[in-house]
Amino acid sequence: MLAAGVEVRSAGNYVFDHEGTQYLDCGGYNVFLLGHCHPEVVSAVRDQLETHPLSTRVLVNHQYASAAEALARVAPPTLDYVWLANSGAEAVEAALKVAWLGGCKHLITMTGGYHGKTLGALSVTDNPTYRTPYESLLSSAAFIPFGDVSALQAELDRSERSCVILEPIQSEAGVIIPPNGYLKQVEESCRDHEAFLVVDEISTGLGRLGCWWGVAREQVVPDALLAGKALSGGVMPVAAAIFTAEAYAPLNRDPFLHTSTFGGNPLAAVAARTTVEVVERHGLVNRAQQSGEALLCATREIFKECCPHLIDDVRGQGLLIGVDFKEEHFAAGFIFELMHRHVIVSHSLNSHRVVRITPSALLDKTDIQWLTEAMRESALKLAVTNKDYKA
Ligand SMILES: Cc1ncc(COP(=O)(O)O)c(C=O)c1O
Repeated sequence: MLAAGVEVRSAGNYVFDHEGTQYLDCGGYNVFLLGHCHPEVVSAVRDQLETHPLSTRVLVNHQYASAAEALARVAPPTLDYVWLANSGAEAVEAALKVAWLGGCKHLITMTGGYHGKTLGALSVTDNPTYRTPYESLLSSAAFIPFGDVSALQAELDRSERSCVILEPIQSEAGVIIPPNGYLKQVEESCRDHEAFLVVDEISTGLGRLGCWWGVAREQVVPDALLAGKALSGGVMPVAAAIFTAEAYAPLNRDPFLHTSTFGGNPLAAVAARTTVEVVERHGLVNRAQQSGEALLCATREIFKECCPHLIDDVRGQGLLIGVDFKEEHFAAGFIFELMHRHVIVSHSLNSHRVVRITPSALLDKTDIQWLTEAMRESALKLAVTNKDYKA
């Protein structure tokens, strides 16, 4: 059992429990790219809280417009229309509904993919545990192997106009990285078939991968790009669906077809705008790339030295790193050992064998030393406990 405390406070890369114990947060399911309570985000949200926290939805919401402007500035070209949501799953819902309005109704999604747990998002999420209780309420999506362009083309050939949704690197599936060039081929196949392409960067976007977006490396421009998690600045829940003008046109014509009372409220909008500015101003995309590369090397070394017989792979990009164990209980044991050393990491919802290390881009040398020493000690402990293991 995880003898975890009650978390009561957080600042930067640390979380503190009810007894004042300090934890290094390298988990947080990809939320804390800026760490916790980033001072610039807190200050902007506090000012907003004291002046105008929630909007009428009748007059113009200036904070919404500024957040949209900031996101459009850093998104790939032509992605200019921003729909702000309260959670990642809501951003997914918005994208699927906009695709439907544009006539792209057949859903195509990927094995292992995770897009959230509201009914629409769950329809395109590949996890029987979460789907089975609601099966009859879910849309019938086609699940095809992630990384396989021929399978996608065959499915696109089979159906009328489709909506294809995928992550550039699958995070909850256990950090699954597709072959180089795959995203570009997906984009081309979608264009050939007049399909609507949604790239879900809720976990990977805003610098987590050491680039602004996973699509940026292959210069892919989807019809909708989704952001969330890190967009919060570690302060306010907020997500976004960012569309091209053409994709967004049906909702632009009648915005009441999809609304949310609190979506894009001034507090969330100010957090989103400030987060984008902090990532830009402090060069966090580069920092994520550099510290990610160093951390990936260090993690590979540690497992090679300490317990190569217990793992299949260590992989990652930027600050999204996965350790793929041979057995689920090794992954659980590693998380437990790290927790014992006051380091928090994340498990993977769609693959219990993979532990994810997803620290903030603001880790300093002392944090990296804390993390790597804790990983080494934990890997050694696992090696001793499972010294007779044979795959
Ligand atoms: C890629 C991806 N999409 C969507 C979601 C759903 O986001 P939320 O939990 O904020 O609804 C997640 C959450 O883990 C995710 O990783």
